[in-house]
Amino acid sequence: MRRFAVIGHRAMSKGKLPLNDLAGGAGRMDVLVRAVMSALLTSHGLRENVEVILHLQGGPGPHRRLKFVGTELRGFHAEERSVAGLIAKAIREPLPAIGQWIERTPGLYDGGGQLSHTLKEWNDSTIVRLDANGERLWKQDCTIPNDSTPNHQSIAFLLSDDQPLETEEGIARSLGTTWLQGHHAIAICHFLLDEGVQLNL
Ligand SMILES: C[S@@+](CC[C@H](N)C(=O)[O-])C[C@H]1O[C@@H](n2cnc3c(N)ncnc32)[C@H](O)[C@@H]1O
Repeated sequence: MRRFAVIGHRAMSKGKLPLNDLAGGAGRMDVLVRAVMSALLTSHGLRENVEVILHLQGGPGPHRRLKFVGTELRGFHAEERSVAGLIAKAIREPLPAIGQWIERTPGLYDGGGQLSHTLKEWNDSTIVRLDANGERLWKQDCTIPNDSTPNHQSIAFLLSDDQPLETEEGIARSLGTTWLQGHHAIAICHFLLDEGVQLNL
């Protein structure tokens, strides 16, 4: 299982999502939409071994979490506006209690809570905090195994939007010293795992 938790510091958590203003009025929801697409989509389909939790922290009101489950998703298309539409459908509903996940559309669950709750739920995963200033995520002197067998049962990556990730949770690991867009960072994580590159954990 590959998991991605993305923090949306200003991302709108409740109400009518402005589909024509995802970057502005919706609080950089465009960044989260790109992240969830990069985590779940290949060129021609969905990655079934992936779960993504978006953390909507921009209000109004308490933080909200949206969980996308690759094995269960239906109607998830490679089109940003359509993915934003799924998010819009979820956040116009009343916020569920922390610990309760309500399925809004197939494979998309809506819940209360914050990163600490996600980390508790993912306690069977190795947690990696993606941070350009950390040690490299991969072992640099290793060879790629011929069979490209994925080398982790369950791994969870923590990322932020355009603002710094303010947590000390997880092992800090870097994809290089250049700060990248979050969705590019996710694509590199998939590449390393798809190719069976040995990780430095
Ligand atoms: C646009 S970056 C955030 C940049 C923000 N200014 C900061 O200081 O964190 C979005 C996320 O992508 C991940 N990321 C970007 N570049 C990375 C890199 N070179 N190595 C590891 N993670 C990276 C980080 O998790 C980061 O929070």
